[in-house]
Amino acid sequence: MKLTLIAAVSVLSTLVSGLALPDLTPRSLVIHPEIGAVIKEDFPKTSFPATPANVSRSNGQHNVKTLLGFDVPPCTGKCTISFTDALTATDSRRLQLFTTIGYPAKENTWESKPSTNNHIGTFLVSISGPAVVVEDFGLTFECPKTTAKYGYEVQPVWDDDHVTWDITTGGFIITCPN
Ligand SMILES: *[C@@H]1O[C@H](CO)[C@@H](O)[C@H](O)[C@H]1NC(C)=O
Repeated sequence: MKLTLIAAVSVLSTLVSGLALPDLTPRSLVIHPEIGAVIKEDFPKTSFPATPANVSRSNGQHNVKTLLGFDVPPCTGKCTISFTDALTATDSRRLQLFTTIGYPAKENTWESKPSTNNHIGTFLVSISGPAVVVEDFGLTFECPKTTAKYGYEVQPVWDDDHVTWDITTGGFIITCPN
């Protein structure tokens, strides 16, 4: 009787291990911006490519901001926008993130850009690794059910601030849980 049971369990486990089980490992999707544009107060009619992205202020003047546009595919759960790996960062090393009303374009300039909407967070960045979230007013949001485009404006903080990043490998990213 005992032997029979062991044999049965053995057969069962062989059967189970032989099945092609679905891979249930959670996979998160990291989305980089499809649009990046640098805009400069000192050159109000000129657009600058975000190669790299640049946010800067010197002695309270010469403001430089970066506009970003993300194309997010449908996903479920909560999406988060975060920052990782600056190329350069000096002085305050802080970035204020705002949503925009309307979607940015590569051709945007200081004088011609989507309106600034809500301040959703502030980051203290580092050259390598994730930025520290200093303020969070809405960095996590319901993932879109259909493809959605999200526009952002990144601004300097305090009188002196200089940050650059590569939008293709780091900087601001949106993470979808699936
Ligand atoms: C960022 O903008 C500032 C101000 O215009 C400029 O001096 C600096 O060279 C820019 N940095 C890069 C990497 O383009």
